[in-house]
Amino acid sequence: MPSRSASATHPVAGIGVFDSGVGGLSVLQALRRAQPQACLHYVADSAFAPYGERHDEEIRDRSRRIVEHLLAQGARLIVVACNTATAAAIDTLRREHPDTPFVGVEPGVRPAIALSRRKRIAVMATEATLRSERFRVLVQREAAGGFAHLQPCPGLAAAIERDDADSPGLQALVTRYAEAVRAADVDVVALGCTHYPFVRDDIARVLGDEFMLLDTADAVASQAARLWRAPATEVDAAWCRLEATGDPQQLRRFAARWLGMAAAIAPAALVL
Ligand code: DGL
Repeated sequence: MPSRSASATHPVAGIGVFDSGVGGLSVLQALRRAQPQACLHYVADSAFAPYGERHDEEIRDRSRRIVEHLLAQGARLIVVACNTATAAAIDTLRREHPDTPFVGVEPGVRPAIALSRRKRIAVMATEATLRSERFRVLVQREAAGGFAHLQPCPGLAAAIERDDADSPGLQALVTRYAEAVRAADVDVVALGCTHYPFVRDDIARVLGDEFMLLDTADAVASQAARLWRAPATEVDAAWCRLEATGDPQQLRRFAARWLGMAAAIAPAALVL
């Protein structure tokens, strides 16, 4: 990923992106692929992760603070790179910032149903996403006439955040939830949390060949590209700034390891 200045603090017209932690990096990667020239500013709210096990009011409060920070730094488009924050907060954020375009992330129920031979799908997501009114309406609209097995995965996002990829604790959670999905007699699985693509291969190994896994990162990036209005004064090179409210080194390690982003990108610690 091209990066010019990770430490600039002056406002730069760019795309603001946030998640509870490292999960949104799966969306950041797709955004960079779709828009090599845009400046990207990512906030990992790792001091407050996981969101999926928090109350909606708390998730809204965190989302609000982060969006205000991103806007103050010059963001002109916000990508809520988190299914849980989208479910709990995006309506409020849009109401409070009517002039700012927002793109959210939702489980790909519609593409999953379209791809399923027998119209039987599963959605793996956080408890907060699955209990939300927004998700209930989505399933009712997009899976009508089909079947959707809803698989909450408590602890999985936190383990991805915290553990090494091959840690027994993380692998035990993957196995438990993937086996529950396999038992549900479905053929397409929507990864409804932006952390889960980082264990996609592990989930696929437990499920076996006859299952298809999908996430919505590329669709989100395309939608952001449609809404993005590049600033009149172009910066001379695309730029990516990473910030974490928790341990910035953990975000750096993750970005370097999973995304091949230059290890030189040093995420800043952020207090919000
Ligand atoms: N990555 C987030 C999502 O897409 C949230 C995970 C969490 O913090 O619980 O839902």
